[in-house]
Amino acid sequence: MNLDFLKACRGERVSRTPIWLMRQAGRYLPDYQRVRSRGTFLDLCKTPDAACEVTLQPIDILGVDAAIIFADILLPLEGYGVKLQFSDGEGPRIDPPIRRLAQIDQLPRVDPIETTGYVMSAIQLVKKELSGRVPLIGFSGAPFTLACYLVEGGVDKNFIEIKRLLYGDPLTADRLLDALVQLAIDYLAAQVSAGADAVQLFDTWAGQLSVADFRRFVVPGIKQIVTVMHQRFPTLPVIYYVNGAGLVIDEMRETGVDVIGLDWRVDLGEVARRVSDRSLQGNLDPTVLFGSRDEVRRRALKIVEDGRQARGHIFNLGHGVLPRTDPGMARYLVDLVHGDAR
Ligand code: CP3
Repeated sequence: MNLDFLKACRGERVSRTPIWLMRQAGRYLPDYQRVRSRGTFLDLCKTPDAACEVTLQPIDILGVDAAIIFADILLPLEGYGVKLQFSDGEGPRIDPPIRRLAQIDQLPRVDPIETTGYVMSAIQLVKKELSGRVPLIGFSGAPFTLACYLVEGGVDKNFIEIKRLLYGDPLTADRLLDALVQLAIDYLAAQVSAGADAVQLFDTWAGQLSVADFRRFVVPGIKQIVTVMHQRFPTLPVIYYVNGAGLVIDEMRETGVDVIGLDWRVDLGEVARRVSDRSLQGNLDPTVLFGSRDEVRRRALKIVEDGRQARGHIFNLGHGVLPRTDPGMARYLVDLVHGDAR
């Protein structure tokens, strides 16, 4: 197996910087569009053969060093009896939103096999099809980001409903976050048992919080997830991605994660000089791929250089690949990082 990704996560030496891209399987790939045109996004997620096929596409098309299972952070929330909807251009919707104490008190513990057994089946298929070529990453939404979707029923640009809960009734917010910590642990553990070689927690919306609120509402839950995952799976790398990581690097470090995932706003070299006992992942601005090849090369190679100062560095974008990205430019980026392109 190409072990560069796992080695970099653990801070072991690698001969070239490993790379994968958040949302590497998605609408920017014509091959994905072809599979996706057979049904809805949810159908695709719930059909293990199809999910397996699109998971593998970027391995061949881009030449990345890791696969990430094709699924979504919102899928396990169906275990709460809510209806998920993904309609083009609007962002996901959750119906009904979960906001009131009476609802939160009654949230069941979600059985990951019962609710998302199709994800575990897809993982088993992918592991077989990969036959050891590259490792497979499993993932979960982080509790705060999941809470945003549940409480808002989608996302609102001011995050009023989730903040109404945090600042109006913090103890109820804690109960919801505790339930989501358990959900993330159960969901991730099932993925590792099915074959995932590393896991990533996505905290897309944690950057909406002040540093003090990040400490209060986010850090304890992430710490608990990381602690339990490390107890159950001692060698499992856990990656924690925060969009808005720049202000909370020390807090992310404090959670005990193996890899700190950075968005593009922060200087990776600076973080590498400050944090010497964790690996770093990131952090090219995904919109740079809409620029010229020269600019992509200049910026990507700067990040590769900066990454050499880190304990370990996994190249990635600072957020997901955008739908109109040229797949040729994504391939060029992978080749650059591997030292195979000029
Ligand atoms: O990275 C991968 O290739 C694995 C698959 C993956 C998807 N979503 C597939 C997807 C992963 C890791 C995610 C994570 C995810 N989902 C996050 C965290 C990362 C981030 O982007 O911040 C979030 C916030 C979600 C929730 C979600 N799912 C949103 C906001 C959307 C709609 C946005 C859009 O572009 O329409 C989805 C749908 C979704 N998840 C798509 C894909 C490929 C697009 C579905 C389609 O129409 O084909």
